[in-house]
Amino acid sequence: MNTAFTPLTIGPLKLRNRFIKAATNEGMCKGGLVTKGLAMFHEYMAKGGAAMSTVAYCATSKDGQTFVDQAHLSAETVPDFKVLTNGVHKHGAAAQAQITHAGAFTFLPKDFSSMKPISANGGFNKFGVMTGRYFKKKMDRDDMDRIAAEFVNAARLAQESGFDAVEIHMGHGYLLSQFITPFYNSRKDEFGGTIQNRMKFPAEVLSKVLDAVGNDMAVTVKYSQTDGKKGGNTVTEGIEIAKILEATGAHMAQLSNGLNVESIDTMFGNPLPATGTAPKNLIVRIGMMMQPKSKEPDKEFSQLYSIDPAQQIRDAVKMPLCYLGGVQSMENINRVMGNGFDALGLGRALIFDPNLINDLKNGATSGTGCTACNKCVVMMYTPGGTSCVEPGGKRGHDGALNLVRASG
Ligand SMILES: Cc1cc2nc3c(=O)[nH]c(=O)nc-3n(C[C@H](O)[C@H](O)[C@H](O)COP(=O)(O)O)c2cc1C
Ligand code: SF4
Repeated sequence: MNTAFTPLTIGPLKLRNRFIKAATNEGMCKGGLVTKGLAMFHEYMAKGGAAMSTVAYCATSKDGQTFVDQAHLSAETVPDFKVLTNGVHKHGAAAQAQITHAGAFTFLPKDFSSMKPISANGGFNKFGVMTGRYFKKKMDRDDMDRIAAEFVNAARLAQESGFDAVEIHMGHGYLLSQFITPFYNSRKDEFGGTIQNRMKFPAEVLSKVLDAVGNDMAVTVKYSQTDGKKGGNTVTEGIEIAKILEATGAHMAQLSNGLNVESIDTMFGNPLPATGTAPKNLIVRIGMMMQPKSKEPDKEFSQLYSIDPAQQIRDAVKMPLCYLGGVQSMENINRVMGNGFDALGLGRALIFDPNLINDLKNGATSGTGCTACNKCVVMMYTPGGTSCVEPGGKRGHDGALNLVRASG
């Protein structure tokens, strides 16, 4: 049998195959409510054959949200997330919670969060211009202890909610990424300077989460293997990060790319659609507005667009690695597995059709119909939530369920 369809063990977790639904912000938590829509979205991923479905952006605290319409892990959301994880388990798959703190990359209004946004650096906060939160606080030791404890608490709540894994988000420009990338970290203390120093706090968080839950659930990390912009991390740092994660004991690393604002085309392998198509969603608008500065001339999507840096990282560490970026066909899958990766992350291909893995397995198809047009990114905060809007794309649920509490 093709190795992609064979089981994989990461930490204490055994997955039925190597396909992981990557986190793709579902936009189905209006006002923080964990909804039936969200639960169904992930149930469809499980039913469609993925080994594990990742619930995007479960904030570690209210202050850790980027938007109001996101969930945070709390005692209140446990019963709702339980409905979601039960639905996933029913189809033999595992569920992973992506645990995230926004740091300064937040658009919460002042009355929602009174605190100054925190980050590696202090000073002017470019993301706060529209919300009046103009300044960010440089994290001190007390802040680090508090945030690390929040990650641990979130992991415990995820466990209580029935999740099989937590994915610590260290990529894309969120708080832990703000320590890792030189674009947001110019500290002069032991947490700034070399990549080893910049990784100290993220590695500390990982270590504490592993100590708390690592015997019972898988603890994985998603990070940006390159920042994709001059002055940012390159694959040289990407390799060092992997070595530190390996030494700290991460059960698996998912190799993502780029930053939300500075280099979103590196994340997706191509730019977002034209600005005119953006709805009210700030994250999308800002990403779109910044694009011309970060866009490489004529950057066009290609399958497996981030295989080159990923391969260098694969050759440098032994820990389980999940390749991510432009997996579109059985040929791609064979290449990734043949090159020594342990798992494959799929985002857009599974938004296009959650049943892709079953269809690949039984030979009904050899690849996805997803054109990488990125219109689903624009859909994130529309009432219907993240879905494919292109011909042939399958929608997993009725958008009205995005307003109904999962455990209601
Ligand atoms: C609609 C959409 C929303 C996304 N939201 C997130 C997110 O919340 N967290 C995250 O880590 N990555 C997010 N991503 C990035 C994906 O996880 C993945 O890195 C990217 O889509 C490239 O993989 P692909 O080529 O398989 O789509 C999102 C992607 C899409 C398409
Ligand atoms: S909208 Fe559909 S076709 Fe376009 S990138 Fe998203 S999933 Fe693929």
